[in-house]
Amino acid sequence: MKEPEQTVNITTLIQPGENWQAKAGSAAIVIDVLRATTCIVVALSFGASAVYPVASITAARKLAHNLHGNPLLAGERGGLRIPGFDLGNSPLEFQSPAIRKHPIVLCTTNGSKAIERFAGSGRPLYTAALVNLSAATEALSQFNEICIVCAGKEGRFSLEDAFCAGGVITKLNSKRKLSLDDPGLVCQELWEDYKNNPLKLLQTCNHGIYLQSLGMSADLEFCSQVDIYDRVPRWTGKALRLEEA
Ligand code: MLT
Repeated sequence: MKEPEQTVNITTLIQPGENWQAKAGSAAIVIDVLRATTCIVVALSFGASAVYPVASITAARKLAHNLHGNPLLAGERGGLRIPGFDLGNSPLEFQSPAIRKHPIVLCTTNGSKAIERFAGSGRPLYTAALVNLSAATEALSQFNEICIVCAGKEGRFSLEDAFCAGGVITKLNSKRKLSLDDPGLVCQELWEDYKNNPLKLLQTCNHGIYLQSLGMSADLEFCSQVDIYDRVPRWTGKALRLEEA
C-alpha cells in the first residue's frame, strides 16, 4: 500500500522580532528582497568566495580585519553605503568582476541581522529573493518542517518580503502537500495578486518608495526579476556559499 504523502509544515514569520522561534529541526529560509538577499545571490554568482552577514558595523569591521583573502566590506544604513565601506547594498554593484574570489562582509539594517539571528541555530539555512525563487524552493522541498523568515523593515512588516514568501509557498505547493499558518495563507494571496507584475509591488511598498526617493529605481527593476539565478545561498557554519547545483 502506497505510503501517505508526508505533509510539510510551514511556519511563516512575517513580523520581524515576533518570537522569532523556528521549530526544532526545521529548515529556515530568510527573505529580504529589497535588497540584502538579492545582493547575496548576485555576489556569490559573480564569484565572491563567501558572504558573511553581520548585524553591527563594528562587528563587520572587526570580522573583515581578521578574515583572510582580502575581504570587501559591503552594507548600508538608510539605504546608502556605510562610510568607509567598499560597497553599498545595491545588487548592481555586485555585478562586477572586482568582487571575484573576495569574501564579502555584509552589514545591512534588516537582512543581515535576520540571517545572523538564525545562523547560530545549527539548522539548514538558506536565503531567497525573487531572483532565485525557484532554486530556493527546490532546496526547501526536501524538508518536512520549514520556517520562512521575512526580514521586514526596521522591525516592521514589509510587503515585498511577504510577497516573495508567497512565491516560495506557491511553488512548494506544486511539489509537496503543505500545512500553512495564517500568515502563510496571506502571503500566498499576495503572490496571486502581484505575480504578473512584481515591479508594481516593489514600486508600491514602503521601502521601494524610499529607495526610489534615493534615485535607486534601477535596483527595484533588478530585484523584481524572477528566477534569473538558478542557485541558492546556503549557510555553511561560518558564511553563506552557493549550494552545489
Ligand atoms: C536591509 O537589509 O535592510 C535592506 O537590504 C536595506 C537596503 O538595502 O535598502
